[in-house]
Amino acid sequence: MASPELSTRHAAPLRTAPVLELCDLSKRFGDVLALDRVSLQVSAAELLAVVGPSGCGKSTMLRAVAGLLAADSGEIWAGGRQVAGPRTFVPPERRNVGVVFQDLALFPHLDVASNVVFGLRRRDRGRQQRVREVLDLVGLDGLGQRFPHELSGGEQQRVALARALAPDPAVVLLDEPFSHLDRNLRTLVREHTVQVLHAAGATGVFVTHDQEEALAAGDRVAVMHAGRLEQVDVPEQVFHNPTSRFVATFLGEADFVRGERVGDRAHTAFGTLPVTTPGVGPCQVMLRPHEVAMEPADSGSGVVVRTEFRGALVLHHVRFADGSTLRGVRPHSSPLAIGTRVRVRPLVDHPLAVFAA
Ligand SMILES: Nc1ncnc2c1ncn2[C@@H]1O[C@H](COP(=O)(O)OP(=O)(O)OP(=O)(O)O)[C@@H](O)[C@H]1O
Ligand SMILES: [Mg+2]
Repeated sequence: MASPELSTRHAAPLRTAPVLELCDLSKRFGDVLALDRVSLQVSAAELLAVVGPSGCGKSTMLRAVAGLLAADSGEIWAGGRQVAGPRTFVPPERRNVGVVFQDLALFPHLDVASNVVFGLRRRDRGRQQRVREVLDLVGLDGLGQRFPHELSGGEQQRVALARALAPDPAVVLLDEPFSHLDRNLRTLVREHTVQVLHAAGATGVFVTHDQEEALAAGDRVAVMHAGRLEQVDVPEQVFHNPTSRFVATFLGEADFVRGERVGDRAHTAFGTLPVTTPGVGPCQVMLRPHEVAMEPADSGSGVVVRTEFRGALVLHHVRFADGSTLRGVRPHSSPLAIGTRVRVRPLVDHPLAVFAA
């Protein structure tokens, strides 16, 4: 963990007043503290991506917001109204919250239009018109009479999204909605979903355990670990300026090199590097593999000890005389053989995150 004086915590400001707000929300299952005083705000038309390892509490948080479970303490506000609190528990159907879960939960015996209309109250006038609008919005125009088994996985996902959006909810919650799709389709469906949510002006919380997905889809990203939110910020900040080593390594490969900080720079074995947080004394500077270049050199201080083919790039593990290691990438067209002596040079055009030594 970064010590407080090293932390550069500055959550991105909300763009508008919050539509969803969680205050000190906690939930325990036996010995497991699934939510540990979680506080969070999501502003109107914002898509917040929540990412974290399996079992860290992501689904528990969404289920508490949806009203599918009661938290032990804390408050939830949705659309300006308290929906859960010490003396309040609004049932799911009256929370004005739409949900898309991993299994989609489409009714197999109902056609697409009937699945979508299911989310609308009987007394809502113009229900058929609204069904047509949302099917159009998700790109399923004209498929209202099909049954779920007559649709592809990606199309079924669109039906679930249309059903969640139909009542024009204050907040849409998506829990790993793409995990049943293969990788290529998943990217397409995700991009489409984000476009639809933005087009609808929806406020959304989207859970994934895929780091790339969170960084690509979220207006902001909340990184969760063991029931706590470790950092909530725009994708660039959580990636380049993580406030803890957990966030640093969870969002991508990261190595830490010893340094001596003097003001806003740190002296390291790889030169003097700019750092995000000024200070004085020993520190650890974060370098990601794409920020590390290496060239073969007889006088170099490192030796390539392992390579991993990654397609376009090859990841090289380099070891130094003091036993420390660093990873860097080279194009697939010019990998270096194991045993090659190399000179390593950080490619840095921005200040680097810095942690306590
Ligand atoms: N109904 C329950 N009863 C007992 N324990 C539960 C229950 N629901 C969740 N848990 C526990 O709470 C913790 C958080 O679970 P949760 O489902 O929120 O994790 P998650 O972050 O969604 O994980 P995944 O990425 O695997 O879906 C886990 O340790 C889980 O075993
Ligand atoms: Mg889950």
